[in-house]
Amino acid sequence: MRMYDLIVKKRNGGILTREEIAFMVRGYTDGEIPDYQMSAMMMAVYFQGMDEEETLSLTMSMRDSGEVLDLSAIAGIKVDKHSTGGVGDKTSLALAPMVAACGIPVAKMSGRGLGHTGGTIDKLESFTGFSTSIPSERFVENVNRIGISIMGQTANLAPADKKLYALRDVTATVDNMSLIASSIMSKKLAAGADAIVLDVKTGSGAFMKAEADSFALAREMVKIGNGAGKKCVAVVSDMDQPLGFAVGNALEVEEAIATLKGRGPADFVELCLTLGAQMLLLGKKAETEQEAREKLLAVIKDGSALQKLAEFVEAQGGDAAAVYDTARLPKASLTKEVKADKDGFVGHINCEEVGVCSLILGGGRETKESCIDLSVGIVLQKKTGDNVLSGDTLAVLYANERDKMEEAERRLKLAYRITNEMPQKRSLIKGVIS
Ligand code: URA
Repeated sequence: MRMYDLIVKKRNGGILTREEIAFMVRGYTDGEIPDYQMSAMMMAVYFQGMDEEETLSLTMSMRDSGEVLDLSAIAGIKVDKHSTGGVGDKTSLALAPMVAACGIPVAKMSGRGLGHTGGTIDKLESFTGFSTSIPSERFVENVNRIGISIMGQTANLAPADKKLYALRDVTATVDNMSLIASSIMSKKLAAGADAIVLDVKTGSGAFMKAEADSFALAREMVKIGNGAGKKCVAVVSDMDQPLGFAVGNALEVEEAIATLKGRGPADFVELCLTLGAQMLLLGKKAETEQEAREKLLAVIKDGSALQKLAEFVEAQGGDAAAVYDTARLPKASLTKEVKADKDGFVGHINCEEVGVCSLILGGGRETKESCIDLSVGIVLQKKTGDNVLSGDTLAVLYANERDKMEEAERRLKLAYRITNEMPQKRSLIKGVIS
């Protein structure tokens, strides 16, 4: 088999066989197929697409390019959750302890933030001493003992995707449905869960901005999950404005803790209940969605989800006292209120720009190597549809450097569009695909 022939076949609209895809993924991972040939292939796929069979074959080949975790030492149905990424998306921080408190074993691999979106691991590191670099034996032991553990992605998890994603990033071939779906699902399938709940974001802060594209991606990923023999459900949710109010690592941890204390923002609580209900149904801890939602609300009410978070933080070396006393979390030295300069309604918030403002303040990474400041970020005071008067505070910036704060203030003001008309209400949950 020759890579050259496969490029010609795809360029001309042909369908690649499972063997051909396996050859190409293996060769590229081993370094036998050079970047320039794989770039040409990715561009051919970008223009010609891949059918369902090809997308599944690509996913399986990438999954099998490295270690596939065996979680059989953990009793019960392991249900994973994955978000396609957003702004203020602290869902795992609250949801993982909630579902663990309902008896679902949470054995989760999470990533760091890149670009305008945050990552669970960075957020968790707001607890002093917390580590996700733990050996897999301790990971399994923690899940069996307290019901929850989160570790960083090991280097050997779907290495083909790691290499291919970096190549796509610099060859303008990221935004292809089959390539995105296979990239995400190869990592999820390698992480070993029995069932997967996907949170596919849509809107100005999401990777897929158009709703129709988000639904297509959701359907594609569910098909792959099912094709790989896993139960899989996707929830398409709104990311046209930040989730909750807080954006920034320690600020988001604080909001997640408030949620577990029963004081969460309505949109965030609703998303946790929707995703959590799907997880409980897949994990056979509830018969109906209503029953699942009641169970999730009960573990907030009786404090067991909050306690689960504290146990989890402690088991991974973190300062669990911060769960009960959030003054112990990293704090920024400067704050600044961003004010409205006219009366009206918040007509729209450019959600990606809010993520970029957090990045400018130091809360995100420009490159994989950047160091981040866990204390900085933004707490919104006004969200889409809210009534504002000139001089009202739209958001509060938390910073440690004055020049960065000024730049973020200028951009955040532009991210808010104040209109005379009240905007149409957007629903948070766009649909559930199973
Ligand atoms: N996230 C991934 O992991 N892969 C993609 O291709 C896009 C988003």
